[in-house]
Amino acid sequence: MNAVFPGSFDPITNGHMDVLTRASRIFEHVTVTVMHNARKQGRHLFTLEERLDILREATAHLPNVSVDSFSGLLVDYMRQSNKGIIVRGLRAVSDYEYELQIAHLNRQLGGVETVFIMAATRWSYVSSSMLREIASYQGDVTSMAPAATVSALRRKFAAEITNAASVDNPGSPR
Ligand code: PNS
Repeated sequence: MNAVFPGSFDPITNGHMDVLTRASRIFEHVTVTVMHNARKQGRHLFTLEERLDILREATAHLPNVSVDSFSGLLVDYMRQSNKGIIVRGLRAVSDYEYELQIAHLNRQLGGVETVFIMAATRWSYVSSSMLREIASYQGDVTSMAPAATVSALRRKFAAEITNAASVDNPGSPR
């Protein structure tokens, strides 16, 4: 049985990695698919290509995992790609209500089943948005994210600081 692990992955965290690694031991193949979350519209730090690059690097050691993207409904992707089951991670009870709603919707719309994997408790407080916030203040996220994410965050915020400095002081060398 194959599975799809969909999400925004902006960027992938150790919590995602934990769920994905465990899913890769259960399913024959897992596709990590970057999708559009309408609730996060216009609030992405990384472009789609950047997120895919990070995911490819972070999952390179997992032989039965591949990376993909899709811009439509998850149920349409599942139907078109014939990929079986949706995997989602649960960190805490606060995730449950939203996940329950999506799982029911996806079964209603496309007859697709969702399997939940509980993220290890040590990652229950880790989220992509927290990583972005900590990294934006040059905080250390190395214990919470794969190396690919850590270096992408460093590059992203170093570039932002350089850009801000040149806007504040247009004559300054870049
Ligand atoms: O990592 P996220 O942001 O919690 O992932 C949510 C995601 C992208 C899986 C969800 O928003 C999604 O399935 N988007 C595709 C569009 C869709 O099918 N929407 C209907 C279900 S909400």
